[in-house]
Amino acid sequence: MQVRANAPVRVASRISGFVYAIRNIVSEARKVEAAGRRVRYLNIGDPIIFGFQTPPHLIEAVDRAIRDGHNGYAPSVGILTAREAVAAECDRRQMPLSPDRVVITSGTSEGIELALTALAEAGDEVLVPVPTYPLYTAVLAKIGARAVFYRTDPDNGWLPDVEHIRSLITPATRALVVIDPNNPTGATYPVETRRALVEIADTHNIPLLADEVYADLAFSGPVPAIAAGFDDAPVITFSSLSKAYLAPGWRAGWMAVSSTPRMDDALAAIQKLADGRLCATGPMEYAITAALNGDRSHQETFRAALRARADLTTRRLNAIAGMSVVAPTAAFYAMPKVALPPGKTDADYVLALLRATGVLCVYGSGFGSRPEDGFFRIVFLASPEELCGIYDDIAAFTGEFLRSA
Ligand SMILES: Cc1ncc(COP(=O)(O)O)c(C=O)c1O
Repeated sequence: MQVRANAPVRVASRISGFVYAIRNIVSEARKVEAAGRRVRYLNIGDPIIFGFQTPPHLIEAVDRAIRDGHNGYAPSVGILTAREAVAAECDRRQMPLSPDRVVITSGTSEGIELALTALAEAGDEVLVPVPTYPLYTAVLAKIGARAVFYRTDPDNGWLPDVEHIRSLITPATRALVVIDPNNPTGATYPVETRRALVEIADTHNIPLLADEVYADLAFSGPVPAIAAGFDDAPVITFSSLSKAYLAPGWRAGWMAVSSTPRMDDALAAIQKLADGRLCATGPMEYAITAALNGDRSHQETFRAALRARADLTTRRLNAIAGMSVVAPTAAFYAMPKVALPPGKTDADYVLALLRATGVLCVYGSGFGSRPEDGFFRIVFLASPEELCGIYDDIAAFTGEFLRSA
């Protein structure tokens, strides 16, 4: 057989389904920068690049761990003190469980990947909100499983449509993903909605994957675990130091599996997968212990800063003709909608905004919304002064865009 030595090597076809718009769109921003325009990156939810700082006692914990020689592989499920700290945190959040049901992961992201890989086969279905954090659909594409989208409604505070979820359950459903507080919408769910979601998981014996990475960043204060009060429901909760502890680059996260024996096989499967990747980042696990057992006063300041930015964002964007946004109640995201002219897509709007103003947002279709619906996501971590300038630019551009269409 003749080999063409200089031909591009073949990549696996599954890669085409692995789409993560939040970073994929950066290549467009680089082109705009290369043409000489400053880009303001509102695409990625990283508080550090906007000047927020990791609490010093966490840095000290990692520094000490490295100097004390904790530089070998950690246990694949994580060091015991970190797992104990996570179990105690779950207890405080009213989801009691023992440290042996905790796995320390490289961020929430690895927890999501481990759980979906353990639960879903090729062809299986997983219920995912739309709009969604895009890692869920990307990982499902990699596994060959199918994301089945359930509606969350902007006219009802972006709450999940519980009846729609019920109607989508089939014998192939393997998990229900719930992101509360939510990225990309900034919504938090009321207790009745949360209860209805856990009851669905409980009744149908479908594990609820509770992405609770923003649980401490609801503006009104930390929210309990979605599994609170449902000790026997099949739930896996995920979180990390990335957002509420301001250390996204450390890749320090955890997952915890609810105490019901129904989840024992799932836990064993996750532990088996965790063995294969050896461990999460060892020294950073010491920061999990320091974070969850230590001073959290930075969170109050952070929540107040986020609330002020959310208010500013809501007020300024709702004042733009042709634009509307649901007021976020948590985290640092808003999902405005622009009334697109016929034939235009959310990506047309976002890319034109980028090229005209240097403001980089992510189009709603990157989170599963319909392109013609005109949603896009803003990360509002920049300073209020900078956000004011950005919203001036968005207002001027949007007026122009809608007039010229
Ligand atoms: C809803 C949601 N889940 C998971 C993640 C990933 O977080 P981590 O840095 O802990 O992997 C993010 C990051 O933005 C997120 O918004």
